Amino acid sequence: MANVIVIGAQWGDEGKGKITDLLSRSADVVVRSQGGVNAGHTVVVQGQTFKLHLIPSGILYPETECIIGSGTVIDPQVLIEEIEQLKALNVSVDNLFISQTAHVTMPYHRLIDRAAEERRGEYKIGTTGRGIGPTYADKSERTGIRILDLMNSEHLPKKLAWAIDYKNVILEKIYNITPLKPDEVIAEYLKYANILRPFVIDSSLKVDEAVREKKNILFEGAQGTLLDLDHGTYPYVTSSNPIAGGACVGAGVGPTIIDRVIGVAKAYTTRVGEGPFPTELNGSVGTLLCDRGAEFGTTTGRRRRCGWFDAIIGRYAVRINGLDCLAITKLDVLDELEEIKVCVAYKVDGQTCHHFPSNASTFAQCEPIYKTLPGWQQPTTHCRTLKDLPKQALDYLKFLAELMEVPIAIVSLGASRDQTIIVEDPIHGPKRALLDPDGSPVTTT
Ligand code: IMP
Ligand code: MG
Repeated sequence: MANVIVIGAQWGDEGKGKITDLLSRSADVVVRSQGGVNAGHTVVVQGQTFKLHLIPSGILYPETECIIGSGTVIDPQVLIEEIEQLKALNVSVDNLFISQTAHVTMPYHRLIDRAAEERRGEYKIGTTGRGIGPTYADKSERTGIRILDLMNSEHLPKKLAWAIDYKNVILEKIYNITPLKPDEVIAEYLKYANILRPFVIDSSLKVDEAVREKKNILFEGAQGTLLDLDHGTYPYVTSSNPIAGGACVGAGVGPTIIDRVIGVAKAYTTRVGEGPFPTELNGSVGTLLCDRGAEFGTTTGRRRRCGWFDAIIGRYAVRINGLDCLAITKLDVLDELEEIKVCVAYKVDGQTCHHFPSNASTFAQCEPIYKTLPGWQQPTTHCRTLKDLPKQALDYLKFLAELMEVPIAIVSLGASRDQTIIVEDPIHGPKRALLDPDGSPVTTT
């Protein structure tokens, strides 16, 4: 399978969890490069549902090594809960590793995240409230606490006391929040440090060892292209780089070791939080997508905003990430629809626009231009090959692949592992297939 990056091609929640879980069976190592407990992956294995925030879904395969990389931000409390949850379900965490240079989310990050959102008023971002932005802000400001610091029980109390002192000024003076008690926080984090110590490693070195041993490495993206701090719909973005380039930075490897990049996109579009969304549907079709697709956030439980597939965004994701192919998920959610629309261009200022506008205020004014395709109005969850699909469903997939100019390698039609069509390449011939149609790994040339 070689070294593969899996990223979200939309606003997150594309179903990356299922796709990485599927690909993990061919991977020796799975690496998370960015994000924190804002991410939420739901994986269903043999009827059992696993909700993961930080731990890569590869953990469900006993042989697969899972690394939480340097570019992530780690909330130790949530990570420990997740470890406990897996252990309780008899899933081994012996192959879990945590980068010593990842940053640590502290209680003041969570408090400031929520208080800042309130203060933003009409400019609010709709964050997950998990302290992600403030943790990354401290990283950039160079006042962050890293896993390395957490492990140093001699220096941690002093460093934390300084940081809490500093943040208490902000909490009290700006947000009118009761200050944190340094001793309590220090004791809490020293306790976390002891639990997490066995997992901590130099992750870049570990990934490099895997590269040298010619192991298969899967880089598991969190969030999605349009939530990228630099290339997403700023300021309605997350504070890390979920795009393919971010995978190398966050894992500590050079781009030359990457063999291919897979984009995961839903057969329609969703977004949580604030910000423009041209193909958003507020009527009955939006409700149908939300209900059939169970579109509620894994992390916050918020109802996701739903809309038609946006091929302008799709093409943008292909460009920004250098996508080789796509995995299209939740095709079955469209099963009942009489007709299905796809946004093929935007209308803005009386002009037709074929490219994603990097100017946020232009994007906010974009109106979708749709192409309408007939629906198939029959169930697809049982389909296991392209031949099983109704003609209209196949035509829909072909249309998406043609618009985005990349092949579709995987189609997902339900949450469980077997509800998947592994396509060699329906559209452009076998460019870079990932798995054989029978599910076994394809060796690369
Ligand atoms: P933050 O990452 O909590 O700062 O939130 C910033 C924006 O990214 C908000 O619109 C969130 O809803 C969104 N976001 C963050 N993580 C995810 C995710 O895993 N899936 C979908 N949206 C996310
Ligand atoms: Mg999610």
